[in-house]
Amino acid sequence: MSEGLNSKQVERIRADFPILARVGRGGRPVAYMDSAATSQKPRCVIEAEDDFYLSHNGAINRGTHLLGDEATSAFEDSRYRLARFLNAKPHEIIWTKNATEALNLLAGSLAQPGALEVTAKDNLVITRAEHHSNLVPWQQLAKKTGAQLRWIDLTPDGRLDLDTLDVIDEHTKVVAFTHASNVTGAISDVAKVAEAADAAGAIKVLDTCQSSVHLKIDVKALNVDFAVFSSHKMCGPTGVGALWGRDEFLQVMPPFLTGGSVVADVTMEETLFLPPPNRFEAGSQPVAQAVGWARALDYLDQIGLEQIERYESALLANLMSGLNSISTCNILGPADTKQRLAVVAFEIDGVHPHDVGQFLDAEDLAVRVGHHCAIPLHRHFGVKSSSRASLSFINTIEEVDRLVEAVGKVHDYFRK
Ligand code: ALA
Repeated sequence: MSEGLNSKQVERIRADFPILARVGRGGRPVAYMDSAATSQKPRCVIEAEDDFYLSHNGAINRGTHLLGDEATSAFEDSRYRLARFLNAKPHEIIWTKNATEALNLLAGSLAQPGALEVTAKDNLVITRAEHHSNLVPWQQLAKKTGAQLRWIDLTPDGRLDLDTLDVIDEHTKVVAFTHASNVTGAISDVAKVAEAADAAGAIKVLDTCQSSVHLKIDVKALNVDFAVFSSHKMCGPTGVGALWGRDEFLQVMPPFLTGGSVVADVTMEETLFLPPPNRFEAGSQPVAQAVGWARALDYLDQIGLEQIERYESALLANLMSGLNSISTCNILGPADTKQRLAVVAFEIDGVHPHDVGQFLDAEDLAVRVGHHCAIPLHRHFGVKSSSRASLSFINTIEEVDRLVEAVGKVHDYFRK
């Protein structure tokens, strides 16, 4: 199988990311291996945001002046662009501040009276692999409504245990699950979970925070009802995310945040809300950020998600075999590289992850340490925290080799 991108292509891609020229504390260029926390941005994204502010900035959806019109068009064109990227309809895309807000919007709307209202008769199903963004809002919704919170459990190596899908039953209102774990990189069997949710008539919610910059996302093919997206993990700006939802659901959902921009009419007593998506977009919007995100999607499409996926699989195989060869290094998650993305959390015998992180930082290797906003998943593995290398198409095999060599020295440095 082709490795997706050759070294010349990767070199050209890396030249698009000004930050990769940064020299670290150890005096070498920083090898950035924390893309699961936030991705770096190519120059074209930074320039698209700049260009918006330099030449087109105006308040959207109000007034008739040139700059207001241009800003409105840029904002709505970005919605079309994201819809095209996801194979969705533009009016099914709702801009949010981030993926967490998208999940809170959904959970907050389902708490209110209406056709989709969650009540004490319902249960809500998540998985033990969720990061807190796709766990806490459902836990809070359960507390608020009296609904029961249940979860699909995990196999010892951290994959969804499909034998526990029977937590989904005829009272399940929502099944919310991650496409890929931000700790283990384990890829969920979306089709199997969706099939079980369909059998129960439940609403299916997919968290694509970790997958959407690594795997081609087609919301229709994935057979889910809602999906949440994070721009800053997709080479786009911070401060913008999105909720995609099927039109028939959005039409009957009450707004979550209210105020300006969401109304068709207001009296002192009542408000008539606009149809989706505007009903859900109260207040001023992340316009320049949406424009930057749209440019990031062009960039990703130019490289090609299939190419990215193949290249990152090759990086992952190298990283896994390198870390597996270190006797003091224990990888969390599935051993089979086909079942995971290039997100690899690991522990070093007897060494605290913060020490690991500091040691690697001195070697100019940027990894994340801690619980990665997924405390229940760490508990599943019987640990409090871990170190995590998360790779992307901006990484090279040489950087992976550097990481493996440095991780190989950690145990002796601290324990001997
Ligand atoms: N979910 C983010 C991460 O994994 C916060 O780093």
